[in-house]
Amino acid sequence: MTAADVSAPDGATRPGAPPAAPAAAAPADKGADPFVSFTSSDRFATVGEIFEAARRALPPPVWDFLDGGSGGEQTLRANLSSFERWSVLPRLMTGAGEPDLTRTFLGIELSMPVLTSPFGADRLLHRDGQLAVARANAKAGVASIVPEAGSYSWEEVATAAPGAARIAQLHPMGNPANFAAMLRRAADIGFSAVCLTLDCPTAGWRERNMRNRFDVDVDVVSGNYPHAGPADLAGTLGQLFVRREPIWTWDELAERMADSPLPWLAKGVLTGADAVAAARAGAAAVLVSNHGGRQLDAVPAALDQLPQIVAALGGQVPVALDSGIRRGGDVVKALALGADVVVLGRAAAMALAAGGEEGVSRLLELFREEISTTVKLLGAAGVDELTGEMIRPAAGRAVPGW
Ligand SMILES: Cc1cc2nc3c(=O)[nH]c(=O)nc-3n(C[C@H](O)[C@H](O)[C@H](O)COP(=O)(O)O)c2cc1C
Repeated sequence: MTAADVSAPDGATRPGAPPAAPAAAAPADKGADPFVSFTSSDRFATVGEIFEAARRALPPPVWDFLDGGSGGEQTLRANLSSFERWSVLPRLMTGAGEPDLTRTFLGIELSMPVLTSPFGADRLLHRDGQLAVARANAKAGVASIVPEAGSYSWEEVATAAPGAARIAQLHPMGNPANFAAMLRRAADIGFSAVCLTLDCPTAGWRERNMRNRFDVDVDVVSGNYPHAGPADLAGTLGQLFVRREPIWTWDELAERMADSPLPWLAKGVLTGADAVAAARAGAAAVLVSNHGGRQLDAVPAALDQLPQIVAALGGQVPVALDSGIRRGGDVVKALALGADVVVLGRAAAMALAAGGEEGVSRLLELFREEISTTVKLLGAAGVDELTGEMIRPAAGRAVPGW
């Protein structure tokens, strides 16, 4: 199997199938055309084409860094196949009008239930990195989770697009004094919340990087620590760089977040028990995620864990999901299974690599169009009407705990 097989997003290009051929450009001037058309003269006709363009744009070791997972990539593959284990059930003749896709998450108003993930080392993918992502998000009315280990500082991203740079991501590890200072810094910049990545006590076992002898340069992950050398970064980003510090406990986390000026989102939750522990420790929301299959390999697909986490939380706090979202239809399935919003990881990162700000804008447009189409075909008036009654395990497919 090639790298491209693993995460190409089109149904036609799921593992084992050849990549999609670029579609022919269609005539522009949609305004004069009375028919709804989703083809256009834009550079990318589908999300699949965006992934293909990213693969062509990036040097092979960087593509592997972006596309790859950890260990034998069992979880990476599971994330993608998990969406195909579900079927959706439409309702007919409902009288529903144009779908309302808006959603509010942690007080942030979104034009659709989508955020972009905190992917670090972003300048490896495009010179404008998270600046370009945030600008595209601002235009689309969605929000960025801005990484601690990014190529640009939180301040730079917030200045580039204050409307979109709404959540700062932080690793709860390393030096507690630095952690507290970073929380204050996020609040001072004007972020609305922080996202704490809990599934990264050390970096995953990334064999593609090992094979390529590929190490991420300190420069591209130190936007928030411009004067730090590798040794200082080890003290701040802690176990990402050195593997000897103990993992914090829920009690330590609760204590260190007790005076947080901002609400926090617990990223990396995969079990009902941990979701409840996070809420008890003070999390204002939970992000069900396996880090896109980049951390502990062989954990289940995030989507497979979503129903039990939603049930365990019983509505205490809102739930987000990432890992494996490659199209608007995937978003609809996650919402029908109880997620309030989804977070785009590689989809946004590939779009950045494929076309910078324009690439991300086109990706978000494709997501919006497909979500809207799917919601309408389901007979729903908007994302608020997506419920468990509209989804069931696909025939012949076992779904854990269902
Ligand atoms: C290149 C890359 C860098 C990432 N860096 C971070 C990071 O610094 N912090 C973090 O919490 N997650 C990071 N992630 C994980 C994403 O935030 C997200 O959880 C994951 O990409 C979702 O899965 P998906 O790519 O299948 O959508 C990174 C992902 C990628 C692809």
